[in-house]
Amino acid sequence: MPYIRVPKGWEMPERLATPEDIYMNRRKFLKAMGFAGAGLVVGCAGERPADGKEAGGRSLARAAPEGIYPAERNPAYTLDRALTDEAVAARYNNFYEFSPVKEQVWRLVDRFETRPWTVEVKGLVEAPRVYDVDDLLRRMPLEERLYRFRCVEAWAMAVPWTGFPFKALIDEVQPRPSAKYVRMVTFLRPDQAPGQVEQHWYPWPYYEGLTIEEAMNELTLLVTGIYGHELPKQHGAPVRLIVPWKYGYKSIKSIVSIEFTHRRPPTFWNDAVPHEYDFWSNVDPGVPHPRWSQATERLIDTGKRVPTQRYNGYADYVAHLYA
Ligand code: MTE
Repeated sequence: MPYIRVPKGWEMPERLATPEDIYMNRRKFLKAMGFAGAGLVVGCAGERPADGKEAGGRSLARAAPEGIYPAERNPAYTLDRALTDEAVAARYNNFYEFSPVKEQVWRLVDRFETRPWTVEVKGLVEAPRVYDVDDLLRRMPLEERLYRFRCVEAWAMAVPWTGFPFKALIDEVQPRPSAKYVRMVTFLRPDQAPGQVEQHWYPWPYYEGLTIEEAMNELTLLVTGIYGHELPKQHGAPVRLIVPWKYGYKSIKSIVSIEFTHRRPPTFWNDAVPHEYDFWSNVDPGVPHPRWSQATERLIDTGKRVPTQRYNGYADYVAHLYA
């Protein structure tokens, strides 16, 4: 979601940091691509491997304990549209920690280490604790669910996620009555994530939030796998959120901490571009984003355009939360 950005007075303009000929060529390239973002940095294009499997394979750490995947599919969560081609989904990612260019992310995740990995659960809970992700994988009720996934940029996919209900973890830590919201944070590792250095103006690390009712909704998953195997790094290994009735940016990747709070937590994109992204971010075809109509969505593998549904088709599960 690159956006038109006016650099703050104290920030060095990109043209001062980059040799002028490279800068000018990059500007031409971005213009040709339809990007006008004043601060956008594009990663270097590498060699494109021939087949899609390599996209998943190259970035798959194969770090999860044996025998976890595939998990049994829960037939209650199925779809009216075909699943997205796995290789397409694995090469078209929003993960700004690595690059703002979706097609580049999967090439840039090699140095990202996803084991060992812990998730700290803290704040207004009776039983705060630090979870090892492999302990979660062994103990939690893993299942596969087919969900629609809708990005605010008006593209969509349909994905088999493997994970467990966020509620299962919330029940373990026992939130206090004063806990009203959940704040989640991603890693900060500039040595492994080039986007955290190149896009220095963003308020890293990435953070998101939900109300406690949203977090405990039956649709809300903590996801560790996709297409019957563990998450490739570019999809947010080793553990990410999926809230399928909200625009994709709410589904924070590679979570390192979960905090229960009594105040609504700030969120990354709302802090970065407040007039474009709000806290709620529920999919709504009737409310256009300043840069994208939300009436329809483009399926990323076929290119077909289909109408967008309120709450991304999940109104029966969540509309009551906003009555
Ligand atoms: N989480 C982190 N930490 N960093 C990100 O840049 N991008 C969000 C979301 N979670 C993002 C993130 C956006 S904008 C989208 S659309 C989805 O991840 C994309 O998920 P996918 O690459 O698995 O399709």
